[in-house]
Amino acid sequence: MKGIILAGGTGSRLYPITLAVSKQLLPVGDKPMIYYPLSVLMLADIRDILVITTPGHLAQFQELLGDGSRLGLNISYATQSQPRGIAEAFIIGADHIGDDQVALVLGDNIFHGNSFSDVLLRESAGLSGCTLFGYPVNDPQRYGVGETDADGKLLSIEEKPARPRSNRAITGLYLYDNDAVDIAKNLRPSARGELEITDMNLAYLQRGRARLVDLGRGFAWLDTGTPEALLQAGHYVRTLEERQGVRIACIEEVALRMGFIGAEQCRRLGAEIGNSDYGRYVMTIADELVGA
Ligand code: TTP
Repeated sequence: MKGIILAGGTGSRLYPITLAVSKQLLPVGDKPMIYYPLSVLMLADIRDILVITTPGHLAQFQELLGDGSRLGLNISYATQSQPRGIAEAFIIGADHIGDDQVALVLGDNIFHGNSFSDVLLRESAGLSGCTLFGYPVNDPQRYGVGETDADGKLLSIEEKPARPRSNRAITGLYLYDNDAVDIAKNLRPSARGELEITDMNLAYLQRGRARLVDLGRGFAWLDTGTPEALLQAGHYVRTLEERQGVRIACIEEVALRMGFIGAEQCRRLGAEIGNSDYGRYVMTIADELVGA
């Protein structure tokens, strides 16, 4: 399965913060936002990853992540000149996807929860059609909302419904089979001129090939779109990290635990940024695993 992180957009709700800086590079806790969606793909055992961003921000992402080889990944880059919709990712990324399946994650979505890697590995191994992930929210009117039968088969998707049929918001992580590329190419832009991800999902739903997996309550799915939400996400991450002594979305640790890199390489990566708590944590993790 190939991975795509969509990290373009305008981030206009965060102006003036995002006038010069990409939203997906802003700090959440002690690390850049894109570490969170990147770690999600890594936990799904995906190593071929395309980062799509705006032409103006491309160089910053390349400086941060390079070609990914330091983490045992293969990271490539593409640009989206205008925010023409989330589903355009499959057209921009068509060559990257090739004849494979694809996982798309939005660059500003933060997921955290128990056994997430198991859920991701299970769902990607059993993928047929499309699999979406639903999260219970108390204001479903603000989201795309999914309704399923008892087996998790998706029955309806409504975009920002006045009277939602469920409280399950559809999150920014999507797994698709290879039909995604053709479906995206045949989508017509919506009234706001975008290739809507909801239309993509409806195409799968109409074929009876869409599933919605519940992430459930023991899980966190955090928004970072406004200054308030960004601050809250940072607090959430720091509170958990300080309390538990472990880090969320530490990409060096994920790479080590997934077997993408060895302990020596992990330690080296930590040492390079060893003046920070984050860097020292990476070194400690590497040493613990060697000692274990
Ligand atoms: P949004 O939050 O809908 O848009 P935005 O990030 O531009 O923010 P704002 O509403 O404040 O202007 O986008 C969700 C994610 O998808 C975000 O990571 C940006 C990304 N995105 C693109 O990269 N290209 C697009 O065409 C769209 C619509 C979104």
